[in-house]
Amino acid sequence: MTTREGLTEKTLKAWSPESWRQYEARQMPNYPDLNILKEVEADLSGRPPLVSAGEARRLKRGLAKVAAGEAFLLQGGDCAESFREFSAEGVRDTFRVLLQMAVVLTFAASKPVVKVGRIAGQFAKPRSSDTEIIDGVELPSYRGDSVNDAAFTLESRTPDPKRLIRAYDQSASTLNLLRALASGGYADLDNVHQWTLDFLANSPAGKTYQSYADRISEALAFMRACGVTGDAAPSLQSVDFFTSHEALHLPFEEALTRRDENGRWYATSAHMIWIGDRTRQPDGAHVEYCRGVDNPIGIKCGPTLDPDDLIRLIDAINPHDEAGRIVLIARMGADNVEKHLPNLARKVKASGRSVVWSSDPMHGNTHKASNGYKTRDFDRVLRELTGFIDVLRAEGVEPGGVHFEMTGRDVTECVGGAGHLSEADLGSRYHTHCDPRLNADQALEMAFQIAEALKPHARKKAVAAAE
Ligand code: PEP
Ligand code: CO
Repeated sequence: MTTREGLTEKTLKAWSPESWRQYEARQMPNYPDLNILKEVEADLSGRPPLVSAGEARRLKRGLAKVAAGEAFLLQGGDCAESFREFSAEGVRDTFRVLLQMAVVLTFAASKPVVKVGRIAGQFAKPRSSDTEIIDGVELPSYRGDSVNDAAFTLESRTPDPKRLIRAYDQSASTLNLLRALASGGYADLDNVHQWTLDFLANSPAGKTYQSYADRISEALAFMRACGVTGDAAPSLQSVDFFTSHEALHLPFEEALTRRDENGRWYATSAHMIWIGDRTRQPDGAHVEYCRGVDNPIGIKCGPTLDPDDLIRLIDAINPHDEAGRIVLIARMGADNVEKHLPNLARKVKASGRSVVWSSDPMHGNTHKASNGYKTRDFDRVLRELTGFIDVLRAEGVEPGGVHFEMTGRDVTECVGGAGHLSEADLGSRYHTHCDPRLNADQALEMAFQIAEALKPHARKKAVAAAE
């Protein structure tokens, strides 16, 4: 039932980590042997949590600041992590580019940036169809490495529950490395900015953004002169970095649900989880699962989302209107953002609920290149982002953050950017297991562009404060 009465009834119903099983769960794999799945669930249930409740609460406090307009959210990483391409360098490079983007955004917005990776658990993918047909052969669709393998053979495509264990193990190693990178000196602010200077020195984007980077250099030199160095201020040497993924595979999420010392439930698979655009039915299993765990919850908001349904979702997931609990991730498409976002933003604002509005400018802007590659155009991605900022500002709502599919590697998956990557270039390093990602250069350039888009407002605010 999708009526308000139905939901009230539902919110009154007892929640448990498995109560989602009473609701329709879309996008679940069809496992040939459910007994093996049960064994895997039992195995995962006995394993240590990947993140702690305290960490999830710290992220929520950061997001509460974003909701209040005092911080900015940067979320990004792979569309789908992969077993085969897992490497320390891959993790490190994505982390590095996210930090570089965060420095640029911190400077532009004059606010702390809350950093969240789509990493250490982003293994399950929703698909538009259960099966895929190639040359007359029909096989189950690829649903992410925690479910099956992308190779187009019956064996590879048959969902295998044991892959969930491998996803858990890879998530644990990834998190271990991220924690080391975040606190072991790698994230030193001067280092991070030096990488950006090196990037600009070798990039066609250099001319456009050099003066911006020079101003950051000046600010850092000023801080140093004032004695604000890494030794005096540990926050310059280490960062808070959080993990997130789509909470799509509910048996996996259920098995990693744990109670904290106060009896509250947490998804311990990641600090933040989100509900995808295809599984956000107010009476569906994914909403049921997410409403009962205390982590920050993202909700993807696509062009078909009805404003009343959005309020129902917010009510179901955050009945006590806790700040930092909900991140609304708009993914409308460059041509749709002005059409669909205003109604949603207006309705939420009128309801008085505290939310973070973030922009995913990737998922509404995917197209097939003339040579068959699935791609995204840098300019369209940027157009959705600036549209998002303009629409929200016109509604008197704070643009709180951005959400990217990106990688620290030099891939050729999205066209455009200062390097003028063309459709003809796509074949050279097209590695994604799912959607096309911004490469390191494109991602950093995007951060400079967002910085520009956010600036006029930041300036206006500074002027207003001085008056
Ligand atoms: C994703 O973020 O990878 C995704 C599938 O997004 P959406 O649910 O917005 O389509
Ligand atoms: Co994607």
